[in-house]
Amino acid sequence: MTLAFPQLPFELIDNPAADPDAAYGDRQAAVLNAEGLAEARRCITAWPGYAPTPLIDLAGLARDLGIASLSYKQEGARFGLKSFKPLGGAFAVERCLVRAVAEATGEEDIDPARILDGTHADIVSRVTVTAATDGNHGRSVAWGSRMFGCRCVIFINEAVSAAREAAIADFGAEVRRLKGSYDDAVRHAFKTAREEGWTVIPDTSDGDIVEAPRDVMQGYALLADELFDQLDVAPTHLFLQAGVGGMAAAVAAEFWRRSGAARPMTILVEPKQAACWFKSLQAGTPTPVTGDIDSFMGGLSCGECSMLAWAILQPGAHAAMIVDDAAAKETMRLLAEGDPPVVGGESGVAGLAALITAATDPAAREKLKLDATSRVVVIGSEGAVDEAVYREVVGTPSHEVAA
Ligand SMILES: Cc1ncc(COP(=O)(O)O)c(C=O)c1O
Repeated sequence: MTLAFPQLPFELIDNPAADPDAAYGDRQAAVLNAEGLAEARRCITAWPGYAPTPLIDLAGLARDLGIASLSYKQEGARFGLKSFKPLGGAFAVERCLVRAVAEATGEEDIDPARILDGTHADIVSRVTVTAATDGNHGRSVAWGSRMFGCRCVIFINEAVSAAREAAIADFGAEVRRLKGSYDDAVRHAFKTAREEGWTVIPDTSDGDIVEAPRDVMQGYALLADELFDQLDVAPTHLFLQAGVGGMAAAVAAEFWRRSGAARPMTILVEPKQAACWFKSLQAGTPTPVTGDIDSFMGGLSCGECSMLAWAILQPGAHAAMIVDDAAAKETMRLLAEGDPPVVGGESGVAGLAALITAATDPAAREKLKLDATSRVVVIGSEGAVDEAVYREVVGTPSHEVAA
């Protein structure tokens, strides 16, 4: 192994509730299923600018890590929004508008294409959607609102950078900044929506409100659907970064639903400040992380698991891993200097950072059965969403790396 990557602290546990031989059951299908995916595919592939994101073969890095292959799904290329998030937030906005139009017209079968082409603009323009965000989800909801023509108010917490705030406002949303954490902003969005008669589009669920967060996750599943078309051979491992767990659950569920017990080993990845999945799987019950949960990997700075994701990942994830913020920075640089050079953002590289950390540690390597036959898939869930941060870490502007 010739890779120059520092030994950084990490933690790795087997999920005590993992059920590797279990079939994809009713509890999971109640959240994500084939019909839901078909609807997400029908809607999202009709949006202007839709194209599957590239799956990049990192053959040199795979060789250095002593594994058979390494595929990096480049979500930085998604709809020009630089993250996978439009698949979820904007899709959930479209579904909410379909429901609003159905209610206002009394018609049951509203064709989503009629939301997109402005047929129901008078009804749609009277709807206000809202969400709390660390950046990417709000951008996605704002972008979808502009595409469909409804009003949008986004709540951010104090740690969200000015660049991320501006990126949301650019799509015409009203942005309101609050003191406190991401989880505080989530609670505030719910409260305001109740008071104002708005529709909240959360990317997480406490178990009570499920419709919109389920739509969000169902939209994310399209990412996995694309992977099935792009991969020649089934992967053996998925390293999936988790905030509230929606993306990881959507990807894991799609592999579980289609491949059953032959599905890849699924490893959840989090920063140590916000390791709610690690702690919850360890405890066997959803366990919030409190205090200062801010991480360099801002999209993963979530202290509470989504209960919809819990239904899938508690039995479905095989292991959980905590990685250091420094590992994400090292990985951003490594990717930028790789062959081919790849632009990965702070949270986007977390899964790859975990793979590199584990593959270069003999005990972790053995525990995760990483060897010369392993075919690993990671989701590069964001590109250089915050250019200033990217430049500071990598030392080169993202457009030069991409060129
Ligand atoms: C770039 C990026 N990757 C991963 C995640 C984690 O997604 P989830 O919160 O659904 O677990 C987020 C969440 O905001 C994100 O922005």
